[in-house]
Amino acid sequence: MSMLDSWVDEVGLIGGNGSAVNRFAWTPELLAACEWLVERLRELGLNAEIDAAGNVIGRWDVDGADAGTAVLIGSHLDTVPYGGRFDGALGVLSGLEAVRRLKAEGFRPCRPLWIAAFNDEEGARFGTSMFGSTAFVGDDLTALRDRVGVDGVPLAEAMRQRGFDFDEVPRAKGIDGVGCYLELHIEQGPRMEAQSLDTAVVTAIVGIGGYRVTLRGQTNHAGTTPMGERRDALTGASRVVLALRDAALTSGDVTANVGRIEVRPGGTNVIPGEAVFFVDIRTANPNTFPTLGNLVRDTVRTAATAEGLTAEIAVTYEHQPVPMDSELQELLGREMDAQGLAWASLSSGAGHDAQVLAPHVPTGMLFVPSQAGISHAPEEFTPPEQREPGVSVLTSVLKTLLLSENAAVGAIAC
Ligand code: HGY
Ligand code: MN
Ligand code: MN
Repeated sequence: MSMLDSWVDEVGLIGGNGSAVNRFAWTPELLAACEWLVERLRELGLNAEIDAAGNVIGRWDVDGADAGTAVLIGSHLDTVPYGGRFDGALGVLSGLEAVRRLKAEGFRPCRPLWIAAFNDEEGARFGTSMFGSTAFVGDDLTALRDRVGVDGVPLAEAMRQRGFDFDEVPRAKGIDGVGCYLELHIEQGPRMEAQSLDTAVVTAIVGIGGYRVTLRGQTNHAGTTPMGERRDALTGASRVVLALRDAALTSGDVTANVGRIEVRPGGTNVIPGEAVFFVDIRTANPNTFPTLGNLVRDTVRTAATAEGLTAEIAVTYEHQPVPMDSELQELLGREMDAQGLAWASLSSGAGHDAQVLAPHVPTGMLFVPSQAGISHAPEEFTPPEQREPGVSVLTSVLKTLLLSENAAVGAIAC
C-alpha cells in the first residue's frame, strides 16, 4: 500500500469508522486530524502550525531575501455530517504526498511551497462555509461572531473551548506571501466516470447562496383544527422546497436544495407552528447568480401568503462564481497530455476554498473521479488507481511552478 493510501485510511479513522466521517469546526475530531497533519508535515521537514483561524499551514521555505512568493497547495479536512473520506482530505493528503515525493528525490525549489488544510470549508456546524480560507485571504469575519452551532454552542465559545480566540482570527491572513494556489479534489459528480476520464482541469467554480428561512404560523391541535383553518409552517416549507425544485429544473443551470429543516414544537399530533430550514442554491452562470436571492425571497413570500404564515430570511453564506486562472488551466492540461492521461475541462458544481483564493491569486484546480458520482456520503470513494494520476500531475506541475528558470508559466514563474 502506498503512503498516500495508508494516510487516507488513517485520516478516515479520525472522527470516523472508516466510512462515515464527522469532523466539524472546532471539535476534538477535526483538531486531531489537524494535529496529525502538523506532525506529518514536520516529519517531512516543513515548518507547520495551526493558525489563529484553525488552518493548518505547512511551509517549505527557501533561503534568500528574493525567494519570491509561495506556491500554495491545499484543501480541507472538515466534513459534512456523515460525510466521506475523500472530499477535502484527498486534496490535502495528495499535497502531502507531492511534498514527500519532491523531498525524496532531493528536489530543491527556488520559491517557497506552502500547504494548507483550511478550516471549516463545509460550514457543517456554524453554517459559516469557507471560514478558514476567508480568514487566510484577510476578509472580514466579524459578522460571524454571534453564529450559534447546530449544537447550541456560539462560535466564539467553541473556539475558546479549544484554546482559540475569535478576536485573533485576522492574524491568520497569509495571502500576501502567496503567488498562486492549486487544489486537487474529487469531482463529486458522475461526469468523469461517464467519460472514462483519469483527470480533469477545472474551468470555473459554481456560485453559491445559502439562506436560513423561518416560517411561523400557529401551533394547534392536529385533530380538532379544521383543515381549512390551519396555519401550518411545514406545509409552507413544503411549498418552498417544491417551488425551488421546479424553478431549478426549469432554469437548466440552477440547483436548489433544502438539506436541513427543524419543525417546532415537534409532536405527531401537533400542527407545526414554526419551521426553520436552510436553502442552498447555485449556478455557475455569473448573469444568473445575482438573481438567485430574489428567487428565494419571492418563493418564500408566495408560500407564506398561501399558508397564512410570516417569514424571515437571512443570508448564511454567499460565494461568487469564479473562473480558474487560464494559464494554470493550460499548464495542468499540458501536463495531463504529457502523462498520456484521458482528461477534459470541467466546471465545478461544488464549492471549494479555491473560489475564495481566486480573486486574490492565480488559482487552479484539478479533479480525480468520484466512484458512481457519489459524495457528501459515506459511500464517497476514489480507488487508489484513480488517485495516482492526479497526484502525479500535481507533483509535476509543482516542479514547474517551483523552478524559476521555467518560462512556460509566464508571470507566475518566480
Ligand atoms: O458545498 C459544497 O459544494 C462543498 O462541498 N463545500
Ligand atoms: Mn464538500
Ligand atoms: Mn471539498
